[in-house]
Amino acid sequence: MKTINVVGCGKVGKTLSRLWAVHNVFEVQTVLNRSLQSGLEAVAFVGSGRAVESYAQMEPADVVMISTPDESIEACCLELCREGLVGRRTVVFHCSGSLPSGLLEPAKKQGASIASLHPVKSFADPAGSVETFAGTYCAVEGDHQACQLIDHVLKRCGAKVFCVEPEFKTVYHAATVIVCNYLAALMEVGLRCFEKAGVPRAAATIIMEPIVTGPVENVFKLGPVAALTGPIARGEQSVVQTQCTALGRWDKQIEQVYKALGRVAVELSAAQGNADSDALAAIERCLDDAN
Ligand SMILES: NC(=O)c1ccc[n+]([C@@H]2O[C@H](COP(=O)([O-])OP(=O)(O)OC[C@H]3O[C@@H](n4cnc5c(N)ncnc54)[C@H](OP(=O)(O)O)[C@@H]3O)[C@@H](O)[C@H]2O)c1
Repeated sequence: MKTINVVGCGKVGKTLSRLWAVHNVFEVQTVLNRSLQSGLEAVAFVGSGRAVESYAQMEPADVVMISTPDESIEACCLELCREGLVGRRTVVFHCSGSLPSGLLEPAKKQGASIASLHPVKSFADPAGSVETFAGTYCAVEGDHQACQLIDHVLKRCGAKVFCVEPEFKTVYHAATVIVCNYLAALMEVGLRCFEKAGVPRAAATIIMEPIVTGPVENVFKLGPVAALTGPIARGEQSVVQTQCTALGRWDKQIEQVYKALGRVAVELSAAQGNADSDALAAIERCLDDAN
């Protein structure tokens, strides 16, 4: 069985290391955290491996997983290289969603095969995350050899693997922020509009639910083009114009949100083909930032 060293064994590191051990895909060799105490706790959770205090105490392994916070990945990679813990046959990967595998270039210069592995999952509690990991989608990019190995071990743990373009890794991560985090922000914008119109927040939340969940279900069933309804889908320029004016008078930030997403809705409406194309062109002019 291949051996693995883990640098940064926190929420993600503990979860993956426990999975590697349980599914017999890697033998967890050494674990290096900032503090030895934290490393010892991680090793106890994983059920195998040895906690160390420094790179000097590590022995080279076939694979190195860097699951520190994003800002420490590069420095940890350099330390691994300096200590001779990365060689011609080593596979080195990190777990950041926003940073590409290219961050590990120093390891590649020493002959290693590099990659990044980003599980699309929230790892709040490692014990729970181990239980629910099967079925998790994982984005993988990097060198062929490293990707092949990661693909194989992830599948053994029940994960579903997909590839992302290294050049646009940050754009991929922005996608997860937009659909996951910005959905909450979008709901907040809607609630502020309800409140402005005299509908209390608690009541507005209840009123909103079916007009949020219905379209979300439709997006997954039919796709965004077919799921779009409302004034832009119908090509109602006067409605869009009146709303832009009303929002602009009250709250410039909300007006900008309305306009920016409205321009995307115009593209969906054009693809849907139900609205008059002249009306859509007029709507596009209303939604122009300059107006
Ligand atoms: N959390 C998520 O939901 C999630 C999901 C997908 C991907 N990720 C990615 O996974 C990576 C790890 O995130 P996380 O949430 O697991 O972080 P975390 O829970 O904060 O754990 C980070 C671990 O790294 C250790 N560490 C920090 N700096 C170090 C250094 N310079 N050298 C060695 N060890 C160091 C910490 O040690 P101490 O315990 O001693 O402080 C800690 O154990 C990040 O790249 C993150 O973007 C996170």
